[in-house]
Amino acid sequence: MISSMAKILIIGSSGQLASELKKLQGDFPSHQFYFTTQAETDVSDASAVHTAFQNTTPNFVINCAAYTAVDKAETDQERATEINAFGAQNLAEQARKMKSHLIHISTDFVFDGNNSRPYKEEDSIHPISIYGMSKWKGEEAIKVSGCDYTIIRTSWLYSSFGHNFVKTMMKLGNERASINVVADQIGSPTYCGDLAFFILSHLEQLTSHKNNIYHYSNEGVASWYDFAYEIMKLNLLTCQVYPIPTESYPRPAARPSYSVMDKSKIKSHYNIYIPHWKESLAKCIQLLHQ
Ligand SMILES: NC(=O)c1ccc[n+]([C@@H]2O[C@H](COP(=O)([O-])OP(=O)(O)OC[C@H]3O[C@@H](n4cnc5c(N)ncnc54)[C@H](OP(=O)(O)O)[C@@H]3O)[C@@H](O)[C@H]2O)c1
Repeated sequence: MISSMAKILIIGSSGQLASELKKLQGDFPSHQFYFTTQAETDVSDASAVHTAFQNTTPNFVINCAAYTAVDKAETDQERATEINAFGAQNLAEQARKMKSHLIHISTDFVFDGNNSRPYKEEDSIHPISIYGMSKWKGEEAIKVSGCDYTIIRTSWLYSSFGHNFVKTMMKLGNERASINVVADQIGSPTYCGDLAFFILSHLEQLTSHKNNIYHYSNEGVASWYDFAYEIMKLNLLTCQVYPIPTESYPRPAARPSYSVMDKSKIKSHYNIYIPHWKESLAKCIQLLHQ
């Protein structure tokens, strides 16, 4: 279907993942890319979504738009749901009508964190935050819509673009002599550049494996403490990192204490190499120093 040119519409184009897709577009010159910001296409506005599809007639739509302020969502449930659930529904509805393939990004926060082994795609969903709940509703809306879709759950995203944990730690590491970081939440950091490359280099295969949910993160497991420690190390920062329990850093939204995802399915369907989180972190930090 896409051996020649594909038209790819990227929604929520100012975010971290979308920015990495934008950076990679030159490596995929046979495709036509269309990027649309929240101001241009608000996913919660069905008519704006309709217009974006009409203007671009895309073969693929990559939904990078989301309400990602996890703590704020606890007191802003309506807007988080409008964007993460109804926004996904609006995109799915247009994708069905226009016969576009919808690639939707979801999250490890759909799980409660009570597992003692990495989460598989079919494990039971039990979000413990408003954000997690709204993202799960988005997944469900897509699954019942009748459109062709791929849902990719990912975790702990960072990039040289946008706001993220890596940049926050680098800033604090330059300002402070020490910092306390939560050590009892375990997951897998994911470099948006790796996820963006996976998506763009497997578009054709995504259509042949349509209507699947996948887990994608970088390889390896870390706590936020481990992640922060490695960020300081790679930046040659002398700031001491001290491990603390979650209860010493209370936040409005609960986080899963364990959200490592099993990636066997995506690896077997696409035969891919996924870099270890430390390898990709080093790459990102190098870019941040250029
Ligand atoms: N960040 C993480 O750690 C993480 C972890 C797991 C999964 N995810 C998921 O991965 C995806 C990409 O995340 P990210 O970190 O790249 O997000 P991000 O940097 O926060 O970017 C999200 C983008 O969505 C846009 N947006 C917000 N509301 C919108 C609306 N109503 N209509 C259109 N666009 C809207 C924002 O626009 P403005 O720039 O105008 O605000 C922003 O550019 C999201 O689906 C997220 O849920 C993220």
